[in-house]
Amino acid sequence: MPQLYAVIGNPVEHSKSPLIHAAFARETCQDIVYERLLAPLDGFAETVNAFRRSGGAGANVTVPFKEQAFALADEISERARLAGAVNTLKFTDARIEGDNTDGAGLVTDITRNLGFNIARKRILIIGAGGAARGIALPLLAESPALLVFANRNLNKAQILQHQFSPYGVVETCDFAALPGRQFDLVINATSASLSGEQVPLPADLYALDSLAYDIMYGIGETPFLAHARSHGAGQYSDGLGMLVEQAAEAFYVWRKVRPTTAPVIAMLRQHS
Ligand code: ATR
Repeated sequence: MPQLYAVIGNPVEHSKSPLIHAAFARETCQDIVYERLLAPLDGFAETVNAFRRSGGAGANVTVPFKEQAFALADEISERARLAGAVNTLKFTDARIEGDNTDGAGLVTDITRNLGFNIARKRILIIGAGGAARGIALPLLAESPALLVFANRNLNKAQILQHQFSPYGVVETCDFAALPGRQFDLVINATSASLSGEQVPLPADLYALDSLAYDIMYGIGETPFLAHARSHGAGQYSDGLGMLVEQAAEAFYVWRKVRPTTAPVIAMLRQHS
């Protein structure tokens, strides 16, 4: 009997997770079925519980339910606790285990796929919302020289600074304080591109051999990446690799098998 998994979200019809996990299952010879589940906005817990009762073994959780998944889980991993959000649920007989693979997926994409070594580098995370919070711990685990949160609302950045300071050197600044500072790794974790908006970044932000990374994918070149390309970033990338790597990490949480990701990233690039 195949084991049953799903991605739960609202909306969920455009999720690439079923395609990605089907490719992983084929490659690793795992007998699984992976489907999309649209949960009503006020019915996330009911959807999860019904899926569990119908034999579900685990689920990915996407917008807007990652915080609700955090609240629902009986056990939370350390990385999910610090992210304040859960994107991977594993169902055991008695319990729901909650994990968050987003940050690990980002770090794997940056270090392994893009060949960028984070150790001793200066990192700038633009944004201080859920996405920024979700990636900070795995980045700090790579021993950067410094991690700066820059946000329009400085207060939100300061809350993250307070939370993550035990794990490394963490600072905050607002956009007005960026000119004159250079970074080796600049990550756009704002939702600005979704509304076609541009975060006001200075021209001299990028150090030599720097990497600009936008966690968004599938929306073409974002204003952030266009700015990086024309202002000296050595390398730049959208978040498609992160999407596939966070899925691979979830697959590992469930199946204890690591799929090969490069062919899946290549397949999605071809189709996008
Ligand atoms: P997510 O879960 O995607 O991170 P969020 O928690 O709503 O979503 O956070 C969105 C982030 O994008 C915030 O850091 C937000 O800045 P504020 O905290 O100052 O609101 C940032 N953001 C969204 N639109 C932006 C814009 N046009 N310019 C700068 N920052 C923007």
